[in-house]
Amino acid sequence: MLLLLLFLCSSLLFSALLYKFITAEGDFTLTSKGGVKREEIEDKVVWITGASRGIGEVLAKQFASLGAKLILSARNEAELERVKKQLTGKYAPNEVKILPLDLASGEASLKEAVEKAEAFFPGTGVHYMIHNAAYERPKTTVLDVDEESLKMTFNVNVLGTISLTRLLAPFMLRRGGGHFVVMSSAAGKTPAPGQAVYSGSKFALNGYFHSLRSELYPKGIKVTIVCPGPIETGSGTSNSAKVDSCSFQRRLSSERCAELTIIAASHNLKEVWISNQPVLAVMYLVQYMPAIGFWLMDKVGANRVEAAKQKGDTYSVGLLFGKKKVT
Ligand SMILES: NC(=O)c1ccc[n+]([C@@H]2O[C@H](COP(=O)([O-])OP(=O)(O)OC[C@H]3O[C@@H](n4cnc5c(N)ncnc54)[C@H](OP(=O)(O)O)[C@@H]3O)[C@@H](O)[C@H]2O)c1
Repeated sequence: MLLLLLFLCSSLLFSALLYKFITAEGDFTLTSKGGVKREEIEDKVVWITGASRGIGEVLAKQFASLGAKLILSARNEAELERVKKQLTGKYAPNEVKILPLDLASGEASLKEAVEKAEAFFPGTGVHYMIHNAAYERPKTTVLDVDEESLKMTFNVNVLGTISLTRLLAPFMLRRGGGHFVVMSSAAGKTPAPGQAVYSGSKFALNGYFHSLRSELYPKGIKVTIVCPGPIETGSGTSNSAKVDSCSFQRRLSSERCAELTIIAASHNLKEVWISNQPVLAVMYLVQYMPAIGFWLMDKVGANRVEAAKQKGDTYSVGLLFGKKKVT
């Protein structure tokens, strides 16, 4: 009798855990945190790059509604103005600052941008730097990448982002603190067949920012690295239009991605993963059972590139079995 009871309890527990894992939208630490710590965001100055559309636009809306003071950056000033007009909150839209910048424009022009950003809210400076901008990420085979997109990916995603950090960090250090939130990717944790250069740029960011934190944490510099899987943005640069909302492989909404990002930052988490399955499971496998994780990715790789070529589902479990599902 006791054995039967034990069996039933452990089956129930196992089923509950399995259900939680299958329906998870992020890693266990992140999803156990509950909500945003509003006091960590309200009245703080938050500078967001890539705020003209996609996840950056949604982050701007959510930070504004939590009472943050905002600086919005991207290249397209008209789009930034459009985003600004839609913001509501304690300081929005009137006190939202627009700061157009091109991350690939070199250190002299980024230095000017940092000085302007620091001067927008005198006596405060920038509390949160949200490194969200990224160069477009079309899917191509590893040998078909052209030099232009190779250089631009690294100039924007890595070199520009690192330069901005090197220029801003001294201001933060003089004030005794600041927080970098880095929008990396699941492609910065696992292989991303068909997106090798993009993946390389995100691995580079992870390495740089984890190292930066190790050096500067005692001086008050915090770093939160966010690794999302496929996110529905509607921007059209990431195959995001092809969504089956009922599908196991569906993309997470950019609203939920932004919400989890802000939860992670307000709880000062060092690295978080945000994704539906099966990408989240692959991230766990590659991190904790790399032999199995890399074996799996080697089986998926060529099929994924082929599915991308046919404009199919590049996150389908079917890729594992050579099934190139075309939507
Ligand atoms: N969407 C996803 O499925 C997904 C998944 C994992 C990770 N992520 C990461 O999440 C972040 C946002 O993704 P998203 O899908 O929202 O991107 P997106 O829609 O393509 O938007 C990219 C943003 O970056 C800006 N940008 C591009 N080049 C720039 C440059 N040279 N200088 C300054 N700003 C520049 C763009 O504005 P302008 O064109 O006006 O400059 C735009 O605001 C990226 O870092 C991406 O890698 C996205």
